[in-house]
Amino acid sequence: MTTHPYPRNCWYAVGLSEEFPPETLTGHVICGRPVVMWRTKHGDVVAFDDRCAHKRFPLSKGRLMEDGTLECAYHGMRYDMTGSCVMIPSHPTGPISPAAKVQPFPVIEQDGLVWIWPGDPDTSDQRKPPRTPEVGDEAWETLRLGPMEVPANYMLLIENLLDITHFYPLHDGNIGDIANSRIPIDLEEGEVDGNTFVMTVREVQDYKQPPYLADWFGYDVVDRAHTHCMQSPGLTRVVMRVAPPGKLGGDQDKGYVLLHTHTPVDDRNHVWRVLVNCKADLMSAADPSVSTAKRVAEMFPAVAEEDRWALEQQQKMFDYPDDDYSEVFLKPDKGLRRARQIVYEMVREEQRQGQSAQAAE
Ligand code: FES
Ligand SMILES: [Fe+2]
Repeated sequence: MTTHPYPRNCWYAVGLSEEFPPETLTGHVICGRPVVMWRTKHGDVVAFDDRCAHKRFPLSKGRLMEDGTLECAYHGMRYDMTGSCVMIPSHPTGPISPAAKVQPFPVIEQDGLVWIWPGDPDTSDQRKPPRTPEVGDEAWETLRLGPMEVPANYMLLIENLLDITHFYPLHDGNIGDIANSRIPIDLEEGEVDGNTFVMTVREVQDYKQPPYLADWFGYDVVDRAHTHCMQSPGLTRVVMRVAPPGKLGGDQDKGYVLLHTHTPVDDRNHVWRVLVNCKADLMSAADPSVSTAKRVAEMFPAVAEEDRWALEQQQKMFDYPDDDYSEVFLKPDKGLRRARQIVYEMVREEQRQGQSAQAAE
């Protein structure tokens, strides 16, 4: 089989706000579409098709002019903030064809992240980007890992995040913990701002903490709530809360929020960012001079590299025809099965909308 499709009518994160300094061109490929982006001198982040209307030269290799227009580096056509060509050096007196324009993409900057809608712009108000309230909130410390380019379909990462039974053996030696894999799973589902979400919930009492969690949070034995939520095909939110037995939900709670953004480049590549969030005053138990967020972020690259390796290996196996191969689903796979259904339904909906748009023309 080919790997999983991605909906284009969806908000995907392109980076943190700080990754878009003023008037700096950046080139991206998002859901198979080349995109040039920058923050204008007025402070807004804008996005356009990265192909010059003249001969497809990447506009992200061009430059921004004093008047805010974007000049193509090849023959010098200049585009304004609506994407229309306003100057052609070889035809200084015009006229300029109305076809000389580049397509804009909807962009939203929210809670410290920049999101793009690579699909039909007319449908972009049917959903909103998921909220990430910890980012930019002084009560929280946020550390970014990535962007990491992962040579695998984005859905393989979502599945990896929803099914943490891979902690053993893939993460054996760091966050590996076989007991963790055996905690039963509940599912919660719903819809927020037009995004259908699915969340796995793992709750456990009187749990002996593995060394890495004891390092971050202290407490030898805990009650623990651990959730993994695909909030949209662009974001998975992971929440861990621990407290001494019987105390969960009170003021002894400690934990983290991990925000994973997974943005498809094409059907076999994606860009992964991890935002590690802990309460700003939470210091690690092992070294109280270092914040827990920093300890988690220090450890995470080794974990992410193991996941990246696994996803790359998995992706390679999709090159073979299925023949008599079929996947086996285990109980802990119920979260990822539901995630697949959600994504496939979004893709079907998009196809239906595309068909009805064609019928209306
Ligand atoms: S390719 Fe851009 S001006 Fe010719
Ligand atoms: Fe993992």
